[in-house]
Amino acid sequence: MADSVTITDNRTGESIEIPITNGGVDAAEWSKLLPGVWFYDPSFSTTASCSSSITELDGENGILRYRGYPIEQLAEQSTYLEVAYLLLHGELPTAEQYAEWEHNITYHTFIHENVRKRFMEGFHHDAHPMGILVSTVAALSTFYPEAKDIDDPENRDKQIVRLIAKMPTIAAGAHRHSVGMPFVYPDNDLGFCANFLSMMWKVAEPNYAANEVLARALDVLFILHADHEQNCSTTAMRVVGSSHADPYSATAAAAAALYGPRHGGANEAVIRMLNRIGSTDNVPAYVEGVKRGEQRLQGFGHRVYKNYDPRAKIIKRTADAVFEVTGKNPLLDIALALEDVALSDDYFISRKLYPNVDFYSGLIYQAMGFPMDMFTVLFAIPRVSGWLSHYIELLDQDSRIYRPRQVYTGVAERDYVPITDR
Ligand code: CMC
Repeated sequence: MADSVTITDNRTGESIEIPITNGGVDAAEWSKLLPGVWFYDPSFSTTASCSSSITELDGENGILRYRGYPIEQLAEQSTYLEVAYLLLHGELPTAEQYAEWEHNITYHTFIHENVRKRFMEGFHHDAHPMGILVSTVAALSTFYPEAKDIDDPENRDKQIVRLIAKMPTIAAGAHRHSVGMPFVYPDNDLGFCANFLSMMWKVAEPNYAANEVLARALDVLFILHADHEQNCSTTAMRVVGSSHADPYSATAAAAAALYGPRHGGANEAVIRMLNRIGSTDNVPAYVEGVKRGEQRLQGFGHRVYKNYDPRAKIIKRTADAVFEVTGKNPLLDIALALEDVALSDDYFISRKLYPNVDFYSGLIYQAMGFPMDMFTVLFAIPRVSGWLSHYIELLDQDSRIYRPRQVYTGVAERDYVPITDR
């Protein structure tokens, strides 16, 4: 059997054979026979919008690899900063490259005082930290106008370092502002996660020493969230990047896409759901409501994974380590009961709905003391390295500007009616 499809234009009787490569057919080949005839695929579920060599995801088999390295090995043995380097450069750094990379990130964590004073402190006291993050990242483009020169690789690298380094500073600053606490400046003696925890929690002590288990757990969560191929926010990054917008503006757009409850907001929705359920006794009734279509089981299901999300497995183990330090999150029992019921129910089995990364991440963040509205921000901090890797790949591919077609369903031509005659 040939690994190809044959398309026949029944209007002309002409046929064309198109090879199936990497599981799909090339639209350029299709257009040779059928110029002007397009695919109708509103949510891109059967469209590969680009080629990419960054992250490999096999949803049927629950496989996730960054640049060929299994996520399980990276979570076990690597660090977020090393993973960020890997995503961006395609290879793990040597010891020397890593030392330089870590130094560069550490020495770019400060933000311009006007970013803090004029922008971040200008927000209303109850502004959502994600709203603050999106706007502040966009504002950075005005502080680094040279970022517009996207053709200069050295200049691009500088903005990448700045973005990765400043995300925790902005994230923690957004939190401190929302709780009326003074801003904490970065501490160059601390590692990436320990520094973030210091900027989050430091009060009057001269130096904040983060619990090592918690700092490592956060690092693992950052590794798991660093990239996930063409998800909604990464696609937003590529769409905006394809217009040759500067990396700050494109990152702000990607972060805005992440903000929604169907994407990065899901872990917050999980905690709200578990709070609503309230006790393990109410789990069966809640699941029945899900099956009747009254509500969704938050943290379950995925467009691509039709198997257990490999990140969820790792997170479950990380949760055990965190709860040993913080004490068990009381919502854990409800989550475990929900998972048990759902995984043995035909509704979920037949639809291949399994826990995704967000089912347990919120429980960990909550146990570590993060308020719920910081959860999506915690997703955005490491995802920046994935977004930027795709941005650079897109520029290197010299991608055309993203410009899909639409199927027009509005009224046909009609004549304008003056307002007095309507
Ligand atoms: N609870 C109950 N039923 C569900 C759920 C769910 N969480 N997710 C999907 N379904 C059902 C859906 O009703 C549909 O059933 P039917 O065939 O009878 O109409 C079927 O499963 C297919 O659903 P879909 O809406 O076509 O799936 P999708 O690929 O468009 O949506 C999703 C993917 C992640 C938006 C969805 O599963 C969902 O809303 N999950 C809850 C939110 C969530 O956990 N999001 C985090 C995703 S992982 C983090 C990330 O990568 O951003």
